Amino acid sequence: MSEQTTLPADNQRKVFIKTYGCQMNVYDSERMGEALAADGYQPTEVIEDADLILLNTCHIREKAAEKVYSALGRYRDLKAERLKQGRETMIGVAGCVAQAEGEEILRRAPDVDVVIGPQTYHRLPEALRKAKTGERVVDTEYAVEDKFDYLPKKERGVRPKNVSAFLTVQEGCDKFCTFCVVPYTRGSEISRSTKQIVDEARRLAENGVREITLLGQNVNAWHGESADGADWGLGDLVFHLAEIDGIERLRYTTSHPRDMDERLMQAHRDLPKLMPYLHLPVQAGSDKILKAMNRRHTAEEYLALIERIRAARPDIAMSGDFIVGFPGETEEDFQATLALVEKVRYAQAFSFKYSPRPGTPGAELGDQVPEAEKADRLQRLQAMLTRHQLEFAQSRVGLEMDILLEKPGRNSGQLIGRSPWLQSVVIDGGEAEIGDLVRVRITDAATNSLAGVRIA
Ligand code: 5AD
Ligand code: SF4
Repeated sequence: MSEQTTLPADNQRKVFIKTYGCQMNVYDSERMGEALAADGYQPTEVIEDADLILLNTCHIREKAAEKVYSALGRYRDLKAERLKQGRETMIGVAGCVAQAEGEEILRRAPDVDVVIGPQTYHRLPEALRKAKTGERVVDTEYAVEDKFDYLPKKERGVRPKNVSAFLTVQEGCDKFCTFCVVPYTRGSEISRSTKQIVDEARRLAENGVREITLLGQNVNAWHGESADGADWGLGDLVFHLAEIDGIERLRYTTSHPRDMDERLMQAHRDLPKLMPYLHLPVQAGSDKILKAMNRRHTAEEYLALIERIRAARPDIAMSGDFIVGFPGETEEDFQATLALVEKVRYAQAFSFKYSPRPGTPGAELGDQVPEAEKADRLQRLQAMLTRHQLEFAQSRVGLEMDILLEKPGRNSGQLIGRSPWLQSVVIDGGEAEIGDLVRVRITDAATNSLAGVRIA
């Protein structure tokens, strides 16, 4: 760092955090924000005011790393501009690109002070202190200690009041799908302890949170121990969390078909607090491609699983992820994906063109599908998925349901909440307040939102 400039007093420093990628990154950014707040950094939305710019990056699909480098290029100018005003700016890169690229980031982006991987966020304040002395720090080890033991606890009043919150219960993945970087960037599966999770859920409830979404790259692989030493899976955990006063709704994401067990299905059958929505990616409908992807199940097995889930909870909405154009995917294979989608009729879905990730087995395969073909398949798949999503939304019209109000709508007096099936619902708020669960009749439906009127 330059000696001619000064940093603001420790309690007046500001941090701008930019988050790319999944909900787990959103959760991690919040926790890093809290760790930095405890260290005297206030959050800011104005990047020009930031004494620390922190990028929490995602590496799941192509161009992620390039996007990060081009953002870092822009910050270089900003840093120079602030320097002219005598203000120092530190730049940190966190998340999966940090994990994957490590030292390479320091080489390509000379202005970066700190590179920190997802398992060492609790060491961020220490890394920044070191960086202030002029040392450039890379900390992407898999820490032996548990970061969650060291990150600040979500205390009352520390965070803005949220109605709905994420809670990470599991990290990493041992599945090694051949297209995916997660097992390399996030490491192997680790479950947080039951006690840590329950304590955090209680604190969230005390803070006014009414809905918790349990997060994990492979959330239904979570396992832990009950207070009396019994082996617990995610289903048991959900039963336990449902007993916390104030928590009205529970969700979890993302699940792998191989880890959907009987207990979790029982939870869907018996717990009204567990919302009827399940994100269960299948990726493709052809057995040949599923095998090449190392998904470890067939299309038939996936469909049979959904049948069992629907038997437990008939109104459950299914959500999925799809990849088109995995190496070797023929038109016939792609047709099998369309056929599977037609059978499941997803209420919501995310679909992507296959993007070879360096270091994954998929990237080494021959028979890569041409870009134009991928684009064409994606378009056809998305047309079908969007049609089903709209049909699902339309099937809600006339139904009465509980809506959890989360935020103000665009027009005055409007409030926006969530249906049990995770759809946005706009209502005229009247006397209702954010955080209320209100009874609503749905009057209108579009692909991405519903409109309704309060009936109680
Ligand atoms: N190419 C395209 N999509 C991918 N995903 C993960 N890796 C890749 C890749 N290499 C998608 C999968 C996964 C979602 C989070 O991102 O569909 O479920
Ligand atoms: Fe990636 Fe497969 Fe693990 Fe999901 S289950 S995180 S797609 S390796």
